[in-house]
Amino acid sequence: MQNSIADIEKEALENIEKAESSEALELVSTRYLGRKGELTGFLRNISSLPEADRPDAGKNANLLKVKLESLIQQAVSGLEAQDENSISGIDVTLPGRTAARGSLHPITQVLNEISGIFMRLGFDIAEGPEVETDYYNFEALNIPKYHPARDMQDTFYVSENIVLRTHTSPSQPRAMEKTDPPVRIISAGKVFRCDSDLTHTPMFHQIEGLMVDKNISFGDLKGILTTFVHQFFDKETSLRFRPSFFPFTEPSAEVDIRCVMCKGAGCRVCSKTGWLEVLGSGMVHPAVFENVGYDTDLYTGFAFGVGIERMAMLKYGIDDIRKYYENDLRFLGQF
Ligand code: PHE
Repeated sequence: MQNSIADIEKEALENIEKAESSEALELVSTRYLGRKGELTGFLRNISSLPEADRPDAGKNANLLKVKLESLIQQAVSGLEAQDENSISGIDVTLPGRTAARGSLHPITQVLNEISGIFMRLGFDIAEGPEVETDYYNFEALNIPKYHPARDMQDTFYVSENIVLRTHTSPSQPRAMEKTDPPVRIISAGKVFRCDSDLTHTPMFHQIEGLMVDKNISFGDLKGILTTFVHQFFDKETSLRFRPSFFPFTEPSAEVDIRCVMCKGAGCRVCSKTGWLEVLGSGMVHPAVFENVGYDTDLYTGFAFGVGIERMAMLKYGIDDIRKYYENDLRFLGQF
């Protein structure tokens, strides 16, 4: 006996409802609407019905066919939409992403640490521009135009009288022009020299120190720098002052520290000498005092300049200065 249209409809609707995948819906479609499907069979066999029933049966069967086709299509679309949501939609059960915490660049950290040491020794912070006049970068510091001493620093000229400062020393005359002694300042920042290799980058950082008052002696310079080195490295690190030349200090001294890698035994870092050059220093040259209008009979002072990259390399055992500026987070994240 053939199922009635109503039976087929009831069963088909249940099966569409139950289907959980497009494959299952495909099977439902074949089962009722396929070539050998139940509804198709019903329509094919309509001639076996009593003649009076045929028109209604045919009409109902065709209506059901259209209804099932559209219901199955709807169900397929619904499942597809669900699939897309589960891929690109928000899964509220996932744990949240934690925001990565940044850290200060190692050069900034070392700058802060060194500034901290000098601030505790009573030094104030002074600042100067990175694009500097020829006057403050050279002339006020007793380096006249065309003087061979200018060759010590490969300078980037912006125009004839404007340079990228080659050192932080221009903050000395700038600070002294603003105040009368006593002066006790440090000034840190970027400096620029046309130079690039394993130990030099065209931009690097220095910290300048200046102390001017009555009766300031070379002994004060030694005391302050020894305290600084002992605080930055450790009390075991000894210092050595070597006679040197800077046009803006007299006498001048290059300061070496006992090699922090080999403790003086001699290694690759210190070129087997046991010593590392870390800063330039000296007693402020009277010509510099004259340029800012200080009385050279009354006042004396000392100045020094420290390379920050080098201090950080020695403290952290970094072997290539260029690593600071490659922006590689695997390197920077270690500090
Ligand atoms: N400005 C010098 C340099 O960059 C260092 C220095 C600073 C020397 C202060 C003496 C006094 O080489």
